[in-house]
Amino acid sequence: EKGGYEHFMLKEIFEQPRSILDSMRGRLELVAGHLNMGGIRAYERKFMNAERIIIVACGTSWHAGLVAEYLLEDLARIPVEVEYASEFRYRNPVITERDIVIAISQSGETADTLAAIELAKSKGATIFGICNVVGSSIARATDAGAYTHAGPEIGVASTKAFTAQVTVLTILAMIVGHKRGTLSDTRLRELMVELGSIPAKVEKALLLNDEIEAIAQTFKDVPNFLYLGRGYNFPVALEGALKLKEISYIHAEGYPAAEMKHGPIALIDENMPVVVIATKDSSYEKVVSNIQEVKARKGRIIAVVTEGDDVIPQMAEFVIEVPATSEVLVPLVSVVPLQLLSYHIAVLRGCNVDQPRNLAKSVTVE
Ligand code: M6R
Repeated sequence: EKGGYEHFMLKEIFEQPRSILDSMRGRLELVAGHLNMGGIRAYERKFMNAERIIIVACGTSWHAGLVAEYLLEDLARIPVEVEYASEFRYRNPVITERDIVIAISQSGETADTLAAIELAKSKGATIFGICNVVGSSIARATDAGAYTHAGPEIGVASTKAFTAQVTVLTILAMIVGHKRGTLSDTRLRELMVELGSIPAKVEKALLLNDEIEAIAQTFKDVPNFLYLGRGYNFPVALEGALKLKEISYIHAEGYPAAEMKHGPIALIDENMPVVVIATKDSSYEKVVSNIQEVKARKGRIIAVVTEGDDVIPQMAEFVIEVPATSEVLVPLVSVVPLQLLSYHIAVLRGCNVDQPRNLAKSVTVE
């Protein structure tokens, strides 16, 4: 049932071109030139007039929520707050019937996310769900929603569910942005075409597997890792660090690259591997300076760059080249090598990647 792969996690990483495509199916209609999302149709007016959106989720789904914050603010100009479901529900949050709450959950059974939904519902907010498991508790508790079509995810470490969530949230942000007039016809069209090319780009990123395994070999015994990214790649840095810690038990932290100088830079010495996600986008130049800062302190740089980058390869110890895409879609591609890196490090350390210690696939306790 692992389809010839050694672990479910690897199988699921490799399924992503397909699961991303499945999550777009019926929603991204390139020939007809429009986007559909059944679940929001009845709430279109609500989204058009939304004064803010609150996103609640946990773990990897929370990282997808952070990507959605960038997307919805960027494309639809709606203020977004992304909340850990567990904090949100216990702190007397301000919620009104004008709020839209988006709950993101692969399993649809996460207790904290479910409780956050119940709280928001009791205050009259509209609840929109993004779930993978059909008929799950969260899917049933929401007013409306859109399923991700990632298929069953068995590995405890979430991989294809994340990219499916980001795909659905991207389409949602594009629809809402277009309806609100903040995303022009031309830009919408460009993004649609680019989104359509993402499965092929992810496929290409997966060809890096052997190269990444060799990098994993170099770093498998280190005690710490730092992950840095800016803009759309900041949530990707967090996700890369989470993947590594949960399956390899190596301590890893994700940071927005610019925050480094406010503390974490003190950690950098010749023993510290620093994964920098440095694709060609609006923060590229700034990330290059951040790489210089790490290098000046002898940190060991592993950089995820856009194909054809000729600057960073001169600075980094290892370079992982991913296909170019639009800045707003980059997490769908840049997360893939980080999933592979954590997978290979964990395997080389002899860890049980599909069932890491102390973790369950769905966390149904508070
Ligand atoms: O099923 P959910 O998406 O609600 O689960 C949320 C988290 O428990 C989950 O993403 C967790 O962080 C994963 N193990 C990460 O790989």
